[in-house]
Amino acid sequence: MLTGKRIVLGVTGGIAAYKTVELCRLFVKSGAQVRVIMTEASKRFVTPLTFQTVSGHAVYDDLFSAATRYSVEHIGLAKEADLFIIAPATANCIGKIAGGIADDLLTTSVMAACSPVLLVPAMNVRMYENPVTQGNLNKLVSLGYHFVPPAEGDLVCGDTGRGRMADVQDIYTAAAALLSAGTRWQGKNFLITAGPTREALDPVRYLTNHSSGKMGYALARAAVEQGADVTLISGPVNLSHPPGVRVISVTTASEMYQAVLAAYPKADVVIKAAAVTDYRPASISGQKIKKTTDDMTISLVKNPDILAELGKRKEKQILVGFAAETTDVFENAADKLSRKNLDMIVANDLTEPGAGFTSDTNIVRLIFKTGQDKQLPLMSKQDVAQRILDEIWLIYSAKQKE
Ligand code: CTP
Repeated sequence: MLTGKRIVLGVTGGIAAYKTVELCRLFVKSGAQVRVIMTEASKRFVTPLTFQTVSGHAVYDDLFSAATRYSVEHIGLAKEADLFIIAPATANCIGKIAGGIADDLLTTSVMAACSPVLLVPAMNVRMYENPVTQGNLNKLVSLGYHFVPPAEGDLVCGDTGRGRMADVQDIYTAAAALLSAGTRWQGKNFLITAGPTREALDPVRYLTNHSSGKMGYALARAAVEQGADVTLISGPVNLSHPPGVRVISVTTASEMYQAVLAAYPKADVVIKAAAVTDYRPASISGQKIKKTTDDMTISLVKNPDILAELGKRKEKQILVGFAAETTDVFENAADKLSRKNLDMIVANDLTEPGAGFTSDTNIVRLIFKTGQDKQLPLMSKQDVAQRILDEIWLIYSAKQKE
């Protein structure tokens, strides 16, 4: 499956390094060319000979081993790789990358990487939850680094919690998805909506919601990375435009409705991550409303349900909706899935810590037209986006066979 793919596998000093041997074996078995870079600390846990034997190549471990081959080893490795993985990635290594420190072969090489970088953190739960580590991870996510989050359970140090390196099979899947990413959606049109909509009451006030747009922007970034032609219709958000994405900025639900319907016929995949304001003021005051009375009633009228309209007009499109709920999450989401004629709905419970509008992470349950559903763990929004696209790919591939 990975024939011809070039993987640089970085190993840092954590007990999970022994599991990376198995990961290396899986890559080699699938036909990938693996070059291993080990830090000094990692060699305390596993010997270079082990990785040399499994990868079939000498291990790189010394920045200054052969001065004349410096550029070959350090820039060359990074330049030629299709994927750069660090597993386990210790808090120290993550901190160094986030801080721009390059003081050994691994950190200098990753800084020069042209390929996607996949980090697989593994550490003690308190180190993982430390705000410094979390801040570093968030910074790296926003810079486009990929992660396989650690699993929860008993840690070797005796503590219990999140910190254990993810299962080798999950790391392999994440790597394979990234490696096949570049071309998967070549020539296909994605229409993605993101952010809130905003409905004016008067020239200074409006109705809106807490949507940050992060999930929709993460989806747009992931889709473009996978070769798709992406149109992102965005409500007012405070995010920079993802490179390579056509962004259409709108304010109100009616503007979003118009823009979405215009782009719909060309779309192969539609993902409606926007939190559309369901109601708007029946009239917009031309002047600032003055506080002349003790109480006040605002009359609202319903906005068009954009997704429901798309469901009615659906032809070839794969239609994916979102449902942000606070009660009966599964039931409400499943109801929206069938009412709006969707192929999949991404449900999240806004009451769960780490899920929801403003955070960089999300916990979602994917519910399918087929009746199947999949619960995903707490993940970065970028990784959730990746998983959503993987699922859409499965739906798309199945449709092609019909
Ligand atoms: N949606 C839409 N247009 C609307 C309202 C919602 O396109 N006017 C889309 C959202 O983008 C989302 C899905 O429908 O993908 C579900 O949105 P949500 O607000 O959870 O559902 P509603 O249908 O508005 O139902 P309710 O507010 O009663 O939960």
